Amino acid sequence: MILVPLRQTLIRSGLKYYSSALPKTIDIDGKTFKTDDSMTNVTPNTLALVGRNLHLNENHPVGILRTMIEEKLNSTSNNFKTYNNFKPVVSVYDNFDSLGFLPDHPGRAKTDTYYINKEFLLRTHTSAHEIPCFQRIKNFLSKDKNSNIPPEQLTDKTGFLISADVYRRDEIDRNHYPAFHQMEGACAWKRNPDDPQEHINKLRKDIKQLEDQLAQEKLKITLVSDDVSLEANPKQDYMSDLEVNLCSQHLKRSIELVVSEVFNQKIESMKLLQKNDSNYKCEIPTELKARWIRAYFPWTAPSWEIEVWWQNDWLELCGCGIVREDLLLRSGYEKDSSIAWAFGLGLDRIAMLLFDILDIRLFWSHDKRFQNQFQKGKITTFQPYSRYPGTSRDVSFWLPKGLTKKDINDNDVTEIVRGIGSDLVGSVKLVDVFTNTRNNQVSVSYRIFYQSMDRNITNSEINDLQQKVCEAIVEKYNVELR
Ligand code: PHE
Repeated sequence: MILVPLRQTLIRSGLKYYSSALPKTIDIDGKTFKTDDSMTNVTPNTLALVGRNLHLNENHPVGILRTMIEEKLNSTSNNFKTYNNFKPVVSVYDNFDSLGFLPDHPGRAKTDTYYINKEFLLRTHTSAHEIPCFQRIKNFLSKDKNSNIPPEQLTDKTGFLISADVYRRDEIDRNHYPAFHQMEGACAWKRNPDDPQEHINKLRKDIKQLEDQLAQEKLKITLVSDDVSLEANPKQDYMSDLEVNLCSQHLKRSIELVVSEVFNQKIESMKLLQKNDSNYKCEIPTELKARWIRAYFPWTAPSWEIEVWWQNDWLELCGCGIVREDLLLRSGYEKDSSIAWAFGLGLDRIAMLLFDILDIRLFWSHDKRFQNQFQKGKITTFQPYSRYPGTSRDVSFWLPKGLTKKDINDNDVTEIVRGIGSDLVGSVKLVDVFTNTRNNQVSVSYRIFYQSMDRNITNSEINDLQQKVCEAIVEKYNVELR
């Protein structure tokens, strides 16, 4: 058992962030925010990711995928306006309250979300911008005399797409990173008070067009289930059964079109690989199984998720639903004036699959050997430039008497480790918890996997990091290392 003389070691190891007081203000994207002792939990490491804007880089996997989906959706009869430059700091109200998240929703917890202070946070999803975007497209829908939109640009249906970086405190492993990217999409139809059939006919025509387009896709989607029952997934009163039915068909077919495009691109790149490399063995699918399952989001009802069967597993791609009336009202729509759907799609997981990238950290690499492999508009298979071996180290400790595992949050521990090891931290996993029956003290162990994506790291470098990790955990929780 090692007892660490705390302060001295921390100062010696240069661990300023956790041992010194929080700065009074932090600057993000040119704006200054006051910090708040009880709420601020955003770390310099995570803030360093703000402004990288990988989704705007057309030669980066995330940017390539973003462009591909935008192009596909705009090849339909829909006219989506794109908003890809929203800044990541949003108010707690925009991220949660305005969308109907209840005050005790777990997503709001400090363990899951990066707070700047009581009022502001790093957005956890692109839905935080739905209301401002519904407000913007409203002008295109309304024949409002005060609107400065030229009459020829007015339509009775329109939509938007928002792509952006989003941030969540979470575990870290090959698929999880504190920042990732989402695309939000929405489409709205205006009801004509003088002709209640007008938007219905329009929707029918739009659906027919989508179905025709789907029929022409190279990769066919087979729906193995489609949960349409409204009993456990109730609809909103502001819409008729028929409207819900048509609106959800339009939503589902639009997403299926994207899915079919993306996976077809993947299949094409697999075929190319097979042609050029006789060692590449893999079964190339000729159709894609998908299913729509019931979901819950506070601002859509009914809601669904789509999953596709890929490499022997159901892969969840996207959450979506019919927009609730209160969200439209909050966006300034007149009561009963319009109906709408919305979806939110995670870009990184799909980009990893498309480009064969096995570790999400690679997306953030500054290494030219990574960055130079990708080209605008092209899906290519990533060639690892070399694999640098990694090493695991455990940190095991006794909790102070009276504390239980509940007092130690895994995401908090992960943040401490990342605060020290940054992108050299491949994963942090809880590996053991037990109680010593003699004195009731609880022991906890985490396994940290250290690996660089771009270079060899030496044992002494890892030992040094590990020592700092141990010290920081002791400092934070007052535990005793085992
Ligand atoms: N924002 C949701 C998420 O991150 C996805 C979503 C978007 C669901 C829009 C419904 C409508 O999980």
